Amino acid sequence: MTAYKFIETSVDQQIGMIELNRPKQLNSLNRYMVGEILEALQAFDRNEEVRVILLVGKGKAFSAGADIEEMAGADSMSLELLNQFADWDQIPLIKKPIIGAVHGFVFGGGFELALCCDVLLAADGTEFAFPEVTLGVMPGAGGTQRLTKLVGRAKAIEWLWTGERIIANELQKYGVINRIVSPELLREEAFRFANKIASMPPLAIRMIKDSVNKAVDYPLYEGMQYERKNFYLLFSSEDQKEGMQAFVEKRKPVYKGK
Ligand code: CAA
Repeated sequence: MTAYKFIETSVDQQIGMIELNRPKQLNSLNRYMVGEILEALQAFDRNEEVRVILLVGKGKAFSAGADIEEMAGADSMSLELLNQFADWDQIPLIKKPIIGAVHGFVFGGGFELALCCDVLLAADGTEFAFPEVTLGVMPGAGGTQRLTKLVGRAKAIEWLWTGERIIANELQKYGVINRIVSPELLREEAFRFANKIASMPPLAIRMIKDSVNKAVDYPLYEGMQYERKNFYLLFSSEDQKEGMQAFVEKRKPVYKGK
């Protein structure tokens, strides 16, 4: 397993876990840490032992956002030349399911990272916010776009303008969070959910993610054409033969991801 400075990774029962590990700074995300997160996501995406990726944070917060100390001295051209968000842009290209299990504070870039997850579990009482406005800036890693697509313009602009904290229950009403669980059970529940997805045929899971993501960007007709291609594609997989044959033979299917 690669040694990282700001994250820890492990693989257990086909679940690849990435743990943000900068707890003293509330897992605030410096650019090296974002680079490590991307590297770990890409490594799990290629790893045949991994079917589902789980993203969690160590300590009292999932993440309090981008590292403000790192950004404080930046200017427009340094950000442009660094291509500040290049790593962020690659996170949505990960093909395997990403489950986020968040707690404590999920602020700014931390919230943007959570919004990159396909499924989000939150500990009861978790606070979310986009406080960038209070620093004289705005989200830069997809926050204005993803939040607005998810919750609609009215609430998105209110939350982005005020930077106010949004409690997990409120956010769940807007469909941003899949499940709220008690803080003590967060990891256990996340593993249980991840195990359930890991037991499913991986290629079908992959094509469903791909198609659902297109639904956000494509008009309905184009989205349906895209869906159909993926549907047909699955009929060239061994898992489709196995799944349907097992049904006919009244036995449990064994999926290989082929
Ligand atoms: N960047 C750098 N350091 C941070 C940080 C951040 N985003 N958030 C917290 N820390 C550090 C604090 O400076 C503190 O360090 P020291 O112990 O060395 O003083 C340590 O983490 C613990 O934080 P607090 O003492 O503040 O903890 P708290 O429980 O009292 O408060 C908090 C928690 C309300 C989350 C508060 O830390 C806070 O408001 N943090 C900043 C949140 C923020 O503004 N995030 C947006 C960043 S901008 C962004 O994300 C842009 C983007 O789109 C990519």
